[in-house]
Amino acid sequence: MSGIDSVLKETRLFPPSDEFRTNATVSGMDGYNALCDKATADYEGFWADLARSMLSWKKPFTQVLNQDNAPFFKWFEDGLINVSYNCIDRHLETKANKVAIIFEADDGSVTRVTYRELYHRVCQFANGLKSLGVTKGDRVVIYMPHTIEAVVAMQACARIGAIHSVVFGGFSAGALRDRIQDAQAKVVITANETVRGGKATPLKSITDEALGLGGCESVSKVIVFQRTSTKPEHWNEERNIWWHKLVKDQADTCEPEWVEAEHPLFILYTSGSTGKPKGIQHSSAGYLLGTQVTMKWVFDYKETDVYWCTADVGWITGHSYIAYGPLGIGATQVVFEGVPTYPDASRFWQMIEKHEVTTFYTAPTAIRSLIKLGGDLPKKYDLSSLRLLGTVGEPINPEAWMWYYEVVGGSRCPIVDTWWQTETGCNMIAPLPGAVATKPGSCTLPIPGIMADIVDESGAQVDLGKGGFLVVSKPWPSMVRNIWGDSERFKKTYFPEDYNGKLYLAGDSAHRDENGYIWIMGRIDDVLNVSGHRLGTMEIESALVANPLVAEAAVVGKPHDIKGESVVAYVVLKAARPEGEEAKRIAKELREWVAHEIGKIAQPDEIRFGDNLPKTRSGKIMRRLLRDIAKGLEITADTSTLENPAILEQLRQSAI
Ligand code: WTA
Repeated sequence: MSGIDSVLKETRLFPPSDEFRTNATVSGMDGYNALCDKATADYEGFWADLARSMLSWKKPFTQVLNQDNAPFFKWFEDGLINVSYNCIDRHLETKANKVAIIFEADDGSVTRVTYRELYHRVCQFANGLKSLGVTKGDRVVIYMPHTIEAVVAMQACARIGAIHSVVFGGFSAGALRDRIQDAQAKVVITANETVRGGKATPLKSITDEALGLGGCESVSKVIVFQRTSTKPEHWNEERNIWWHKLVKDQADTCEPEWVEAEHPLFILYTSGSTGKPKGIQHSSAGYLLGTQVTMKWVFDYKETDVYWCTADVGWITGHSYIAYGPLGIGATQVVFEGVPTYPDASRFWQMIEKHEVTTFYTAPTAIRSLIKLGGDLPKKYDLSSLRLLGTVGEPINPEAWMWYYEVVGGSRCPIVDTWWQTETGCNMIAPLPGAVATKPGSCTLPIPGIMADIVDESGAQVDLGKGGFLVVSKPWPSMVRNIWGDSERFKKTYFPEDYNGKLYLAGDSAHRDENGYIWIMGRIDDVLNVSGHRLGTMEIESALVANPLVAEAAVVGKPHDIKGESVVAYVVLKAARPEGEEAKRIAKELREWVAHEIGKIAQPDEIRFGDNLPKTRSGKIMRRLLRDIAKGLEITADTSTLENPAILEQLRQSAI
């Protein structure tokens, strides 16, 4: 647990303005404490009341939490529900003409879709899926651009009880194949291409390549959305079908499939500490409830809001806070296909002005890069529509927080720094903005009903100011239900025996300050957080050693001003250690290889070649030393257990 005892010294406190507090859904600390007290007094009753008032049920539940087969918890299990009905149909009576999605494409063109239009689109596409034989429980992989259609595809799956698995459009054919294969998908939904930052990526060709790698025999159809006029390279008459042809003659209504509360809504793959990504399986009712409660409490949702979450639907944030959360609560939201820096670094600010955005949710890495590219740019735009800002995905440094607060939010908008994970389904630790005063860099306090704690190796709560492991001591409705196809790994990873299987281990270290505020310090496992993306070091290592030139590889993270962390790879080639131009050439080749094996986001920023790697006599790679070398630190640790201490000097000098 080295390094996690360092306590940040940030003491500035930003309480909500009187106006914000007065109008907030949860107002003042009294409001927050009242909810927490209710959850403590009657935990199940607390969640049951919320599930009854915030979700629409076909058949109401009578059982709340079933812990018989812990840690495979069940919530509301005898209730029947449909997530798509909750996100669309139930709004039709009162807000059919309300805009659900304001879509801005990479090129700046804007399309608006009302709840009624969204309803018809989702129903038509759901009928299209049914016509291909997709039924309840079938897996559908979605490999799409970040467009209205991606949301339609997800909602259509939910409508018919199919389980979607969205694969981020930046992943390569190899990564796509692995996910299709693990989920045993019946159908893949893709597009001819995606355009971001003016650059096209041929998603359909990558899908063809993935299927061509073998192991995807479960796939019977590939639906192709025509995003641009470019023709796909190949067209397989039997397997491929155009989206527009599929929906053309379909009815625009479709009775939802009423599913059990626990029916899996989706699988989303994320990185862990082994080479194989984990298929995080979420439920229907409990998951949706988490998104609704946090839309209301953390995002303080108002009927007049224009909400914008800048994530991609390929990540959990895009699931919970684009595809499900905002629609479930009936919000108007912006969906943006492009990147923050195209055509220039004022794109976000220009869009906030143009669409009169009230609630803006983005990642610290985006904030840091926009500060660097134009810290004054926000001042050129009218950002007075904003009333609430949010961050997610990684710790935000106090400097970036202050800039966000002052320059973007005009010192008027609370910032909700939301800690959560793919596994938690919804925000877990975050300020309720009308109640909890914020501190730059802290995600503050758990939301009511979330029993987060910081413990030591034995499971005992650590003292204030001391670092420890972040855990959750009670099951909550939107938690991960399983790792797809690997229950053992689920138990071992999240409910380890060290804690008698009783605590959910988040995999982060954290500490509490003197006010009880929580500060996230970083991962405790071999997971990196690069620009808010979770990457497993083992995943990158496996990709590297799959290259015929490579004998061995070890990957570590290194602090990076903008990305949070960058990827450093130590590589031993089968041939002699390369130097000079040759080292540069091979490093370039290996970077391209990783982009092809996993995706550009996993490319090492730096590659160092060695004759071998620092190992203990028992053969364990000493990653701590590799991290120190990457940071350029002097090695002060005892290296006497190393088999080959001389290698350290070589690796230190091997930066290219
Ligand atoms: C990190 C993203 C500090 C953390 C929603 C967690 C954060 C991992 C924050 C999950 C935050 C997320 N402050 N760290 N506000 N939010 N993290 O699954 O290490 O992509 O375990 O979910 O991101 O990443 P994931």
